[in-house]
Amino acid sequence: MNKNFVITGGAAGIGRCLVEYFAAKGHTIYFIDKDPEPTEELIKRMHRINQQVTGYVGDIAEKETLEKFVQKILIEHPEGIHCLINNACLMHGGILKDCSYDDFLYVQRIGVAAPYMLALLFKEHFCGLGSIVNISSTRAFQSQPNTESYTAAKGGITALTHALAISLQGIARVNSIAPGWIDTKDYHDEPTINQPVTNSDLEQHPSGRIGNPMDIAHAVEFLCDEQNSFINGENITIDGGMSRLMVYHNDYGWTYNK
Ligand SMILES: NC(=O)c1ccc[n+]([C@@H]2O[C@H](COP(=O)([O-])OP(=O)(O)OC[C@H]3O[C@@H](n4cnc5c(N)ncnc54)[C@H](O)[C@@H]3O)[C@@H](O)[C@H]2O)c1
Repeated sequence: MNKNFVITGGAAGIGRCLVEYFAAKGHTIYFIDKDPEPTEELIKRMHRINQQVTGYVGDIAEKETLEKFVQKILIEHPEGIHCLINNACLMHGGILKDCSYDDFLYVQRIGVAAPYMLALLFKEHFCGLGSIVNISSTRAFQSQPNTESYTAAKGGITALTHALAISLQGIARVNSIAPGWIDTKDYHDEPTINQPVTNSDLEQHPSGRIGNPMDIAHAVEFLCDEQNSFINGENITIDGGMSRLMVYHNDYGWTYNK
């Protein structure tokens, strides 16, 4: 069945993978992204291969942008949508440096308030039982220093997930995915600055590798599938088992070096 998907942060990274993956399966995609160039590039590429993809440029931290985006979708698709994927977020430092009060709030507007607002705007417009998938992070559950703005947003979206699942019963199922280390370079037009991946990086993942955006796309597809409708209000961590590793000083060659 052809479904209508709404994806935030769809021009690059995991979001672009989701746009391309679900479009290739014949679904209709509406995505929003703040970066005009990759948005236009992706739309052109999708139209060249006749796929049903509409891109919208805007900052999802802005309430008006979200309202206009949803209005456009509902004018073109009065029947509503099937799946909402709240994917966009960004990092903005923390308490040690580079994170003012306004920076902190900005990340919460993108990472928590926009997913809430989109759920609010679409709540009367899901076709049948809808599916909302929120992209969280393993950083919702563990931290490095100076990551407060992002970590708080990820904790927020994880808790928002179970709250929405309870409030929206009969309207939409709501689940989240917490990715670990996902290498997104294949889904960026511009080369991304990534630290080189070492053998130790690979080996510290019980799965023996770091993740790729398709790992996330497959899980989103699984959560959106009505056959899995008993999964609701749940978070699935997809990190190759890395956050399950218990680390003590001098265990397995690990040393604590503050
Ligand atoms: N890549 C990872 O290792 C990883 C790990 C855990 C969680 N995640 C989560 O997965 C999601 C996607 O991450 P990614 O690595 O693909 O990121 P990315 O930076 O590669 O892509 C994010 C996209 O979202 C867009 N975006 C950011 N802020 C926006 C805003 N205010 N309005 C509209 N668009 C906006 C960006 O322009 C970009 O196209 C995020 O929620 C991120 O927190 C990623």
